[in-house]
Amino acid sequence: MKILITGGAGYIGSVLTPTLLAKGYEVTVLDNFMFRQNSLADCCQYDTFNIVRGDCRDESTIKELLHDTDVIIPLAALVGAPLCGRDQIGTQTINYEAVKLICDLASPEQRILMPVTNSGYGIGTSGKYCTEESPLRPISLYGSTKVNAERTVLERGNSITFRLATVFGMSPRMRVDLLVNDFVYRAFYDRAVVIFEGHFKRNYIHIRDVAKVFVHGIENFESMKDKSYNVGLDDANLSKLELCAEIQKYLPKFVYSEAPIGEDPDKRDYIVSNARILNTGFETDWSLGRGIKELIKGYTILRNTLYSNV
Ligand SMILES: NC(=O)c1ccc[n+]([C@@H]2O[C@H](COP(=O)([O-])OP(=O)(O)OC[C@H]3O[C@@H](n4cnc5c(N)ncnc54)[C@H](O)[C@@H]3O)[C@@H](O)[C@H]2O)c1
Repeated sequence: MKILITGGAGYIGSVLTPTLLAKGYEVTVLDNFMFRQNSLADCCQYDTFNIVRGDCRDESTIKELLHDTDVIIPLAALVGAPLCGRDQIGTQTINYEAVKLICDLASPEQRILMPVTNSGYGIGTSGKYCTEESPLRPISLYGSTKVNAERTVLERGNSITFRLATVFGMSPRMRVDLLVNDFVYRAFYDRAVVIFEGHFKRNYIHIRDVAKVFVHGIENFESMKDKSYNVGLDDANLSKLELCAEIQKYLPKFVYSEAPIGEDPDKRDYIVSNARILNTGFETDWSLGRGIKELIKGYTILRNTLYSNV
């Protein structure tokens, strides 16, 4: 089976791509390497790995790549509200229009599996479990372009979308801006965090379980298709304060306090039900605690010392 991944050199793609290659799939990655990342270097050993440096908005590139593809995984995006705020035209064209381009050009038999954010579930639903039927009403441009892309993919049919919780864990293209990764980094190096909206609840999922759910979706496509699935840890619908308490178990010197120093652009405060994906037979392997231990090892290696002698 041949798989095309746009944005496959990103945080998620750099774990998903080697996972698929190791399982014997033929994988082509299209990426513009906007972070100058070398995270797929280890994949080049596979004869079944192809790489294209290019832009996912380029019609002729996409047309050519679609000729020889069974499954399409669109990951390319400007990810997160701050980055999207800095490049709003890029956000609209990469996060939404490039996905629509794939939907327009792909044949009906080609399968699409795409991750989207679940930000926006929480508005006005504090304390209530959100299912896939709950309305998604994102506020930020990031959230709304992802929700529009999801609608386009599901309307096109022969597709699956995964509404991912906040992802955590180590990747060869690391992101320390994600909530768990960020807090563990600060706990490890600064021993302190000041939190805003500390009682707001979020949910979380390890990056290797994200790779696993894509494999699960590919392997069970016929029975799962034409639906969206929440993907998060069922036992980790935790507030930011509870997350800090969990981190403190592994880094006992860590201290945290709360102050009104910011606001979430998507006002996320919600608990999510993962019953639909669990009912398809999917199981997660990575608890929050296991991921925190992994991050502590990873941060012993990664250290931001560009402008310091320490
Ligand atoms: N990380 C999360 O918590 C999370 C949660 C929900 C959904 N997602 C979705 O997963 C996908 C991947 O996210 P990520 O965390 O790996 O982000 P990332 O920023 O690490 O990866 C994005 C990748 O897209 C590439 N890219 C950007 N613009 C491009 C363009 N015009 N043409 C080709 N490539 C381009 C970048 O070089 C990068 O490799 C995104 O669609 C994101 O919305 C992520």
